[in-house]
Amino acid sequence: MKATFSRLPVALRPINYVLKLKPHIKTFQFTGSESIEVEVCKSTTSVVLNSVNLDLKEATIKVEDHDIIKACNIVPSEELETVTIHFPRDIPRGKGYLNIEYIGEIGEQMKGWYRAKYTISEGEERYACSTMFEPSDARRCFPCWDEPAHKATFDITLIVPKDRTAISNMPIASEKNIEGSPELREVVFERTPIMSTYLVAFFVGELDHIRDTTEMGRLIRVFTPKGLQEHGKFALNAAVKSLTFFEKYFDVPYPLPKVDLVPVPDFQSGAMENWGMVTFREDCMLVDPENSSTSRKQWIAIIVAHELAHQWFGNLVTMEWWTHLWLNEGYASFSEYLCVDSVFPEYEIWTQFVTDTTFGAFSLDSMKNSHPIEVPVNSPSEVDEIFDEISYNKGASVIRMLHSYIGDDDFRKGMKLYLERHIYKNTFTEDLWEALGEACGKPVRDVMSTWTSQVGFPVITIHATEDGDSLRLKLHQQRFLLDGTIDAKPTWMVPIDAISSQCVQKPCLSVMLSKKEDEYVVEKGKNLGWFKLNPGQIGFYIVKYPDELLLKFQPAIKDKSLPPIDRLGLVHDLFLLIQAGQTTAVDLLKLLPSFIDEDAYVVWNCISGILGKLNLLLDYTDSQSLFQKYVRNLMAKIWADVGWDPKPEESHTQTLLRAIILRKLGLYGDQTVIEEAKRRFELHVSGKEKIAADIRATVFSIVVSAGGRDTFNALLKLYDEASTTEEKNRIGNSFGKSKDPAILRDVIDFAESDRVRKQDSVRIFCSVAVSKVGREIAWQYYKDNHLELVKKHPGVFHIGELIQSVTCNFATIEQAEEVENFLTVNNEHGVDMKVKQAVESIKLNSNLLRRDADKIHEFLLANVKV
Ligand code: BES
Ligand code: ZN
Repeated sequence: MKATFSRLPVALRPINYVLKLKPHIKTFQFTGSESIEVEVCKSTTSVVLNSVNLDLKEATIKVEDHDIIKACNIVPSEELETVTIHFPRDIPRGKGYLNIEYIGEIGEQMKGWYRAKYTISEGEERYACSTMFEPSDARRCFPCWDEPAHKATFDITLIVPKDRTAISNMPIASEKNIEGSPELREVVFERTPIMSTYLVAFFVGELDHIRDTTEMGRLIRVFTPKGLQEHGKFALNAAVKSLTFFEKYFDVPYPLPKVDLVPVPDFQSGAMENWGMVTFREDCMLVDPENSSTSRKQWIAIIVAHELAHQWFGNLVTMEWWTHLWLNEGYASFSEYLCVDSVFPEYEIWTQFVTDTTFGAFSLDSMKNSHPIEVPVNSPSEVDEIFDEISYNKGASVIRMLHSYIGDDDFRKGMKLYLERHIYKNTFTEDLWEALGEACGKPVRDVMSTWTSQVGFPVITIHATEDGDSLRLKLHQQRFLLDGTIDAKPTWMVPIDAISSQCVQKPCLSVMLSKKEDEYVVEKGKNLGWFKLNPGQIGFYIVKYPDELLLKFQPAIKDKSLPPIDRLGLVHDLFLLIQAGQTTAVDLLKLLPSFIDEDAYVVWNCISGILGKLNLLLDYTDSQSLFQKYVRNLMAKIWADVGWDPKPEESHTQTLLRAIILRKLGLYGDQTVIEEAKRRFELHVSGKEKIAADIRATVFSIVVSAGGRDTFNALLKLYDEASTTEEKNRIGNSFGKSKDPAILRDVIDFAESDRVRKQDSVRIFCSVAVSKVGREIAWQYYKDNHLELVKKHPGVFHIGELIQSVTCNFATIEQAEEVENFLTVNNEHGVDMKVKQAVESIKLNSNLLRRDADKIHEFLLANVKV
């Protein structure tokens, strides 16, 4: 029988951990000595702690002036990830010390305390040791109450080789030589504030650093690989400004003496907010001034802001249990935008929120296999599964909606109240609503619980009748589901605004729809042009307009009197309705030519994402090449504007736009673009002229797609020679664009070889699955090698990601069945939720094609000039 997970018993409570760890880098083991100051609240003969893969040699406990008690039996449970330490008699109540001697492993799975390989200049391979504990892997490093609510302080000591840098959450308190071991030194770090185990961190390796201080005098250090201090400057500037921003925004001081940013050469996600010592994947932190792209820099600014937001929201005040994970991640994903907007206003980052954050949330949350923001979770793998679009993107989106509903002033007041009220403690979602509600006097809890405790989001259907100078509106809400089924039950409290051709700046309607259906009257004046709900796409809902209202948007799209976010909002909502069968893809193909004069990056970014998805599906029909021609025609005008090379003084978003348009044209067969890409690639390879960083990834993709073996080989060589992770990834991620099955098969072998770091291999593997041929090859490979793959890339973030990306764009019912059967029988992957979502998505694809493929073909035949 499978053991069931439950929270740890609370007879003992940790107060302070004294941890002394000595890594043996050659054998990948470490020795640990731990003394936990505890409060024995209830007398007991056994203590249960979390522990995985640790070999406990002995344990004793001493309470106040009672005698030391030595453990008589130490029983690990691999399944429950615990160890039970039995004592021969009752431990008396009071304050005491639990002492444990143990041995652990410096693993290779990028969790717990693990090794990360790097090469020094002479080509010699060495290992750094770094930690990644969230959500539940501190237990791989020291026996502990590894739950966010068991906060304690930590005294960390590391015994490390003299020539290595040792970093932890806190600054170094003292260092000393070790008698008899001239090559080692003992580094003692200052005591941390009271904090959760998942935020503990340390690093041992070889790094340089640069430093700066904020206006408020906080020390920030950015570590870099040896000799590459230059590559840390961007992150240092971003971190100084972001920390300053948050100190002012929250009006609560940053509580630690310093914060370090540390790049780790092997890293499972993008970054981790360990308190005072944030760790990063290298390409999420390091900027090579000559070779980093604008979009990378923007992403780094976002990540730095996100992790620094956690220093308050997550670290200082922490969720009580992982059910409230979204509080951490949703909130940080919202405030990264607040911060980047203030630090890098030229990024116009808020305009990018909808496409980059909200839309991802919609696409998962409109599936049957979505889940509410607040979701009961128990085992570590269940916890891993909710680091997803819902916690991050829906979380951020509903907070943005709330921010707009109560206004920035009250939002800030409420945040300060929340942080100060719960400082150093743990919270439930309700606690945030309580504080924000107090600050603004509005029914925050009532409104927000409809968004966090219910799965899904509403589609608002409008019925409108003109009545002289007024417009009578009937608004109806219903859960939006992609499979077209109707779930009549849930209703949300939806703050609804509307703008119209006569009042673009200020809403002409501002109401709270809290029933299934309600009626409103809008004074519209004489000649109403268009009328649009959800200005700025701030509400987490989509809108279905009657045809007569929909038609009125077309001129406003053409002359751009409708604001950019609203233009893209229309297209996006329409695409969801198409997928749900509420209208057909032909409506979209008819609407898009209104965008012929479009010049906004955000709008093209959204359109290009939608076209990309359609293109994937049309790979299963005869329409793909006609469709690609349609897209080339659609983008001809904007391409003539942006061209290959940057204009003097062009804006940040114009730079981003170029790569998007270029990519579509090149991959969709525009011969002049392909020829020029090849020419630039040759110059690049021969070392005569480097391709500009901002279009390099795109050019690589285009030449791989249009080229053969020679191009692939040339890029493989560049991959091996590339010195930064960013460069390697822009090369590696282009490989899947090949159209040659033999090359695609080789790409998978390459992704799984030692030439690719484990952190990058899943991404390269999945890049193969972006075409019909590639997807079949990748899936066949999975079926043939699933046991090895699961073993090599365990966990939701790796095998889960792989399974989902490889399968979710299949498009027939037979494929849905095959994927489901195979992954149910061979379920060692342990990522059931991802599998269900992937299967659902295949079925949706298949339904869309069944309904619309012929209609699309007819439309294209009649309308595309060949
Ligand atoms: N706390 C997470 C890191 C994390 C992710 C831990 C998954 C455990 C499992 C961190 O704050 C984070 O969210 N990182 C993001 C980047 C962010 C900008 C969205 C990441 O790593 O992708
Ligand atoms: Zn986060």
